[in-house]
Amino acid sequence: MELPFSESYRIKMVETIRKSTLKERQKWIREAKYNLFLLKSEQVFIDLLTDSGTGAMSDKQWSEMMLGDESYAGASSYYKLKDAIFNITGFNHFLPTHQGRAAENVLFSVLVKEGNLVPGNSHFDTTKGHIEYRKAFAIDCTIDEAFDTSCCHPFKGNIDPEKLEEVLKKSAGKVPFIIMTLTNNSAGGQPVSMENLKKVRQIADKYGKIVVFDSARFAENAYFIKVREEKYKNSTIRDIAMEMFSYADVMTMSSKKDAIVNIGGFIGMRDEELFRQCCVFNIMFEGYITYGGLAGRDMNAIAQGLYEGTDFDYLETRVKQVEYLGNRLKEFGIPLQLPIGGHAVFVDALRFLPDLKKEEFPAQMLAIQLYLEAGVRGVEIGAILADRDPVTRENRYPKLEFLRLAIPRRAYTNNHMDVVAVALKNVFDRRKELTRGVKIIREAPIMRHFTVEFELA
Ligand code: F0G
Repeated sequence: MELPFSESYRIKMVETIRKSTLKERQKWIREAKYNLFLLKSEQVFIDLLTDSGTGAMSDKQWSEMMLGDESYAGASSYYKLKDAIFNITGFNHFLPTHQGRAAENVLFSVLVKEGNLVPGNSHFDTTKGHIEYRKAFAIDCTIDEAFDTSCCHPFKGNIDPEKLEEVLKKSAGKVPFIIMTLTNNSAGGQPVSMENLKKVRQIADKYGKIVVFDSARFAENAYFIKVREEKYKNSTIRDIAMEMFSYADVMTMSSKKDAIVNIGGFIGMRDEELFRQCCVFNIMFEGYITYGGLAGRDMNAIAQGLYEGTDFDYLETRVKQVEYLGNRLKEFGIPLQLPIGGHAVFVDALRFLPDLKKEEFPAQMLAIQLYLEAGVRGVEIGAILADRDPVTRENRYPKLEFLRLAIPRRAYTNNHMDVVAVALKNVFDRRKELTRGVKIIREAPIMRHFTVEFELA
């Protein structure tokens, strides 16, 4: 008999989590103005708000924390991280930052100017925020297949080369760079194929443009290339990652994802002049160039995490847990973005609650209902996240409206996944009763997602 699949690690330290009653949750969500970001973590039983900074570090990472060199300049921790980044990505210049959006802030301070167009594959909200804050525009060139949740394309994160060329043909002069998000978070944790990365590189070269990788989940992307792109089935994750990065000029990284740490980020690049320009903003916004807002111990943990995060057995455990939850939901007939993504299951709220008006934010309503059902916290990836159009100030309604259930790395077991699946099934069974959503009573002018307040519509 074939042995069943199991985790590639065992547990050495645990953290107690607490169940609550429906009555408590009704009170708490009302007090949190129906925004799950405003809940206290102790009011949550299973927290699938994000996979960012929520993973469990390993024994080796904690050991590295003790070895951190806290020198202001030239710390050994900086050089340890520099080596790890070079070994895994091939980038010889790097700047530490306190997290991914800080890397975007530093890099875009150099590259993005008012009126610019930045084409890419479904820019993440902080990426788009940093572009729009500079009065530039993010142009989404993701392939059409990504917007049909029931269509099972293996690389729904891909850029459509024709859409990209159209932007470049018309307005090459306004394009400072092309950005590829690996994996494509907003479209459902969907990977980009190596073939597509190569194609984008060719187009960039034709127009003399820089390619930036938003690399938060590059290792999960490499895993999908290995298991879905025939040519790479015998390659190692490290070889795949090295080839992926060979098609980029610059990478921004939120280490809180695939480097499995609780805080940290960096920029990697090859060009020395760009590095020098970025140093100016890194010093201004983040800290000196050899620590950039991080403690030495954080840099050590990132270096170790980069090696662990690119280990095939770890990645297989990781992606299969996400798939496990997705498959359970699929069995219940719950509509999802298919295939199931790398870091999260994306529930299609428009198909789950087809009678709810988009103006009443169906995915937000679904997130509230799942919380009420079992204390499970997911997050809306839809119209709230999409913000208002910076010019017209009208709400933007993206083609996809998701409830995202993001799974922290190495933190929960499949028993937790079963609770989540059954809780969502219970909501699915009473979906006909959910005829009203929410309306906004207060919101920030940009990136409102985190602090927006609602009342029931
Ligand atoms: N890029 C991508 C693709 C991301 O998913 C994130 C963060 C960032 C950049 C920004 O990194 O949080 O370290 O500043 N995503 C988290 C999420 C917050 O929940 O998806 P950060």
